[in-house]
Amino acid sequence: MIQIVKVKDYATLSKKAAMYIAAEIVQREKPVLGLATGSTPVGTYQVLREMYQEGKLDFTAVRSVNLDEYRGLAPEDSHSYRYFMNQELFHHVNIAKENTHVPDGSLSDAQEACESYERLIESLGGIHLQILGLGHDGHIGFNEPSDSFPAKTHCVQLTEETISANQRFFNSKDEVPREAYTMGIGTIMQAEKILLLVSGRDKAAILKKVLEGPVSPEVPASILQFHKNVILIADEDALSKC
Ligand code: GLP
Repeated sequence: MIQIVKVKDYATLSKKAAMYIAAEIVQREKPVLGLATGSTPVGTYQVLREMYQEGKLDFTAVRSVNLDEYRGLAPEDSHSYRYFMNQELFHHVNIAKENTHVPDGSLSDAQEACESYERLIESLGGIHLQILGLGHDGHIGFNEPSDSFPAKTHCVQLTEETISANQRFFNSKDEVPREAYTMGIGTIMQAEKILLLVSGRDKAAILKKVLEGPVSPEVPASILQFHKNVILIADEDALSKC
């Protein structure tokens, strides 16, 4: 079931999302957070940083696993998702480096990279709260529209639409990697709780399909209709077509 929390704007979305994450951190002895990249969660990470700086939040016990990473980019590459997470969150709070996990894009053996990531998530006891953004084509993590739902962490070919959407983070479209490692839909669906964050009018059409359309691998995020504990925090613009 998807519980919808409608907020006025992006700033409110960021505050609300940070509150949910903070509650999870406070309530659990050893919280396992599934984290996402993209621009949507940036405001949320900013609020979490502020809460930490104000002494309201302690990340000592937190373990994190990120959804995805570009294949072929080393962790220290400034375009990698590991680098992004360091900049946006990890380097600003007291989370131990060894407790943060992002798929390693520099591993060329895709099978080993993916299997070891699944084993890691298992060894942490699974994900308590998974944060998700939404791609314009309905992708979550890097699970692109397809004819089936991939179960586990795997290597994907990015679609032209995703490459174009993500080129804003690179100098040119040619520099955007063509492949990525991503948790599978099954990995994501096993999280105890999911927090889906969606902002902006440009996401309104796809969000309508996710919430009201048939569940189909053509719209990967539509599978969330089958999860028992999803909270969608979306602003008025994103919900303007619902
Ligand atoms: C990328 C990421 C996704 C993210 C999506 C949307 O492709 N792999 O995890 O949710 O983009 O990004 P944004 O929040 O910038 O719209």
